[in-house]
Amino acid sequence: MKILVTGGAGFIGGNFVQYMVNEYPEDMIINLDNLTYAGNLETLKSVEDKPNYKFIKGDIADREFIFDLFEKERPDVVINFAAESHVDRSIEDPEIFVRTNVLGTTTLLDASKTYGVKRYHQVSTDEVYGDLPLDRPDLFFTEETPLHTSSPYSSSKAAADLFVQAYHRTYGLPTTISRCSNNYGPYQFPEKLIPLMISRALADESLPVYGNGANVRDWLHVLDHCKAIDLIIRKGKEGEVYNVGGHNERTNLEVVKTILKALGKPESLITYVEDRKGHDQRYAIDPAKLENELGWEPEYNFDTGIAQTIDWYLNNRDWWENILSGDYQNYFQKMYVDK
Ligand code: NAD
Ligand code: DAU
Repeated sequence: MKILVTGGAGFIGGNFVQYMVNEYPEDMIINLDNLTYAGNLETLKSVEDKPNYKFIKGDIADREFIFDLFEKERPDVVINFAAESHVDRSIEDPEIFVRTNVLGTTTLLDASKTYGVKRYHQVSTDEVYGDLPLDRPDLFFTEETPLHTSSPYSSSKAAADLFVQAYHRTYGLPTTISRCSNNYGPYQFPEKLIPLMISRALADESLPVYGNGANVRDWLHVLDHCKAIDLIIRKGKEGEVYNVGGHNERTNLEVVKTILKALGKPESLITYVEDRKGHDQRYAIDPAKLENELGWEPEYNFDTGIAQTIDWYLNNRDWWENILSGDYQNYFQKMYVDK
């Protein structure tokens, strides 16, 4: 099989590409990525010389480029990870989120339809369901939960999901969608909560917690997400949506305190800052469909997963220190210092 993975130089796509190249030497994995601020080829060092791996630089929203690529490569399967993924950036500047996440997706769908791909998989998010109240721990997102987005990011992802479903119903394109909860693990860009807090704590810098830190996220190790996607593209039913999550709810404050404890740093580093606009309260996934129909179950528990992740950041300082010395510094200055 020839599998076109978009966004394979990012956090989840990068972990997925490494997993697939090693797991399926008989398949060809093509990584298409535009190398935005979040794309980093250093993540792919361990597979870059493998015969079943190829990198192509390009923009999923560039129609001519994408059609040329499909004409030349004729992929059997397309898995779309490529996206603008950070909620705070979408609040500052929504336009690029529409271009990449919506137009990029429809461009890939059109090319997939034209060239008859056997499976188009869209990597989506639990954020399309909006949020749940903190005082109703009995509620979870199922695949039937209505789309009810809060941020420009989640709105762009929901729009993309609706186009995927339209291409299935209208044109019969064989699609699947996965909607996953918050991922953690190696190679996550240090603007996201966990790597941001690890890198700042190591430098004895303040840890900016939005609002009162009581918001809840449902954390899943990135490799459990990768294995779920692998299962869905092989065994998932066309036209279906699958929720992915491991019942691992934590408040942001619990996560930050876990990191501080593991690093032996004081809680006095925690600084409460202005809340995120429209901040979603709680995400919580019900993964019963994926578990019951496809037999998926997560392998990591959060306590060992987070400990291993912290170790990874300690042992791979070059990877994230190179990022922090570049453009991200200007972004951090604008978001947290100049405000
Ligand atoms: P990321 O920001 O780390 O990586 C995104 C990648 O997409 C980068 O390599 C970037 O260069 C590439 N990209 C951006 N615009 C592009 C374009 N126009 N053309 C080609 N490539 C482009 O994101 P991530 O956290 O790895 O998320 C990957 C996907 O998973 C996204 O679709 C996101 O919505 C979804 N998702 C993320 C999480 C999470 O917790 N991070 C959870 C659920 C779903
Ligand atoms: O749920 C899946 C989503 O998870 C993905 O679709 C998104 O791509 C991914 O970025 C993530 O979104 P979140 O907004 O939940 O992740 P983030 O790491 O930005 O924030 C996690 C929580 O931590 C959130 O409640 C906001 C809070 N936070 C975040 C940052 C960056 C802070 O308190 N301080 C911070 O500095």
